[in-house]
Amino acid sequence: MWCEQVLQFFAFVRGAALSLFVGLGWLPNRLRTEPTVFVAEDGYQIVWETARKSTARVTVGGVRYTDHLAGNIRWDQKVHKVEVPFCALDAAGGYEIQYRHMIVRIEGYKFLQGKEIRKAYAFRPVDFTDGLQIYNISDNHSLLRPADQVAAYWGEKLDLLILNGDIISDVDSRGQLRGVLELAAAVTHGTRPVLYTRGNHETRSNYALELSRWVGTPGADRYYFTTRLGALWLAVFDAGEDKQDGHAEYSGLADFDAYRAKETAYFERVVANAANEYDAPGVEYRLLVVHIPLGDVSATQRKWVELANQMKIDVALTGHEHLLAYYPAGGCAGQNYPLLIGARPLRARKDGSCTATALEFLNGGITAWFTGVDHQVEQEIKIKE
Ligand SMILES: [Fe+2]
Repeated sequence: MWCEQVLQFFAFVRGAALSLFVGLGWLPNRLRTEPTVFVAEDGYQIVWETARKSTARVTVGGVRYTDHLAGNIRWDQKVHKVEVPFCALDAAGGYEIQYRHMIVRIEGYKFLQGKEIRKAYAFRPVDFTDGLQIYNISDNHSLLRPADQVAAYWGEKLDLLILNGDIISDVDSRGQLRGVLELAAAVTHGTRPVLYTRGNHETRSNYALELSRWVGTPGADRYYFTTRLGALWLAVFDAGEDKQDGHAEYSGLADFDAYRAKETAYFERVVANAANEYDAPGVEYRLLVVHIPLGDVSATQRKWVELANQMKIDVALTGHEHLLAYYPAGGCAGQNYPLLIGARPLRARKDGSCTATALEFLNGGITAWFTGVDHQVEQEIKIKE
């Protein structure tokens, strides 16, 4: 009995101490990362991380959206994801994030809570009035610098940042996962849309199963989708790992064949539904985005090229190979669209250089530039005059 009383006494002291610390503001709950506005299948997903487990909300045009799971507002996470409709955020031109530290549960829904912290951000959706300016970077493998400088090429003109996989390497810590948000935030400061595609390295190690919480994706079970940003239609493919499931490196823990079979069925439905996808009214630009270039190395890959060939793709943006290359339509894999392999990262050169891809749609033409750390242009490619 005395043991129980001692425990109750310590619980009381802990509660009183926490109340005092909160009251005095000694439990600061800072932002670990600025928010990133990810593009997912049918809306934006605003993601950020706080130092402490918190509830999270986003207010857009006077409407509040929460980070919830089947109705329960999440209080058990430091990384927060709030879904906001495209039209709401596009119209509002800005948003406010709010978060509150859930210090300790008292009972049921009752928590000792920290102060609510708010921060406002401007947001500019994809703007077609001066053409379409996109930056695509991949394969920096957790090296934030100089990737952030390279991807800042367009400055204020940026319409869409594409993080095209292997932004981080083996996902063996949450610090690694944070690397995706850090790069996105360093370039966009929460003010522009960001599209993420999964790289094969981002399928690896013990925190890879948490990845979906940290990036824009329709759900924890898939990283492939199509989406629409005004006149721009996007097809995002995800090949998963780059070797056979039975490869010794995966220790029997890979079943990407099953995943890719579901993905094939998904894109077959997209093609069958062309009138509401790439042929929908108002679609003027069609981009294919995928970490590993679609090729002819397997029956699945050949099938995906066949499906992509139906989609009237203007250009495909890819990475993975750690090199810069351009293949006009009619390439050796039989693709009927031009293809860019768009990142030669620091680790490919070891000389401090890092090069990725700026892409512009302007007055009916399409141009790509391979650009480096000081925004110098290494190569200009006229994809369409
Ligand atoms: Fe890769």
